[in-house]
Amino acid sequence: MAKKIVTLAGDGIGPEIMKAGLEVLAATAEKIGFEYEIDAKNFGGVAIDKEGNPLPEDTLNAAKDSDAILLAAIGHPKYNEATVRPEQGLLRLRKELGLFANIRPVKIFNQLKKLSPLKPEIIEGVDFIMVRELTGGIYFGEHTLDDDKARDVNDYNVEEITRIMKIAFETARTRGKKVTSVDKQNVLATSKLWRRVADQVALDYPDVTLEHQLVDSCAMLMITDPSRFDVIVTENLFGDILSDEASVLPGTLGVMPSASHSETGPSMYEPIHGSAPDIAGLGIANPVSMILSVAMMFKESFNLSEAAQIIENAVEKTFENGIFTKDLGGQATTKEMTQAIISNL
Ligand code: NAD
Ligand code: IPM
Ligand code: MN
Repeated sequence: MAKKIVTLAGDGIGPEIMKAGLEVLAATAEKIGFEYEIDAKNFGGVAIDKEGNPLPEDTLNAAKDSDAILLAAIGHPKYNEATVRPEQGLLRLRKELGLFANIRPVKIFNQLKKLSPLKPEIIEGVDFIMVRELTGGIYFGEHTLDDDKARDVNDYNVEEITRIMKIAFETARTRGKKVTSVDKQNVLATSKLWRRVADQVALDYPDVTLEHQLVDSCAMLMITDPSRFDVIVTENLFGDILSDEASVLPGTLGVMPSASHSETGPSMYEPIHGSAPDIAGLGIANPVSMILSVAMMFKESFNLSEAAQIIENAVEKTFENGIFTKDLGGQATTKEMTQAIISNL
């Protein structure tokens, strides 16, 4: 039966990179005989403009009913002071679908090493996965804003920490067998619990080494010694910040994909970056983050590692051919980059 894929193109560069991702999806599907249907839905700013709601019920229902969801990006500065914002739709979608496990791989294609702002010897051997808790923490605690004071509540319970830890340890087991758990245990109560649960879960994984890092020193190590990491696991807010920091290693946000998983329902695949309003409509956005998100979907939702590999190899070959978008110092447009990748599939 054809797989149902819901697409949320969203705002800014979203539609431009979604188009690229869908072209690569179509070309790969044809190669391997994968049958699917696309259901494109309104989401984010575009849904606010059309329906007054960043996550219309029809979009949510389609997402819940799907086999996988592809999201490009949402958000625009025009909503900065608005009470209804595109980001609220994204947070609600993650919560409604129970997408607690956000997987953000950081791997540097050979040809990007020389483009990194960091020295080659620092970049050598970098290959880690950020496991970000995505449905808890300060993002989802109570928020109050008055004229003279404001408050954001950070909550975590043992169950929420245990399930994300298990994902991190299971992931490490298939790779370098090392988990770095990141917290602010010297100050925060939630972090004290975080560390306690990490130690507890580690007992079930004697083959995996657990190290604890405070988030401030982790931020420093990510730039001075990034190859020391294998799997990093951390709470929602720290994971948001550290994963954008990690994009400095390959030199751009434009090559960073992600997958978000729940316990039972459909998974969602999206670049880690936003709608890049500064370059929207110029046709120069790097589509690789979206294209690699499609690769992750093949592998993690449809168990088609071969399709994922075909896409990753094509991206690598395109870089080898010296084709880069502007964010990587090249001249290729979104369209040219996408066509080059398709011809290398
Ligand atoms: P951003 O990630 O959109 O952009 C940061 C910088 O990276 C910009 O200079 C941008 O041009 C560049 N960039 C990002 N993606 C790129 C790509 N594919 N190719 C080339 N360059 C790229 O962050 P921002 O500007 O802080 O946020 C813009 C909006 O996006 C905000 O409304 C924010 O809330 C939203 N946002 C959405 C998501 C999402 O949809 N998942 C993620 C992050 C931010
Ligand atoms: C991300 C984004 C989102 C987040 C925003 C848009 C709410 O920055 O996916 O990393 O903070 O989770
Ligand atoms: Mn972010």
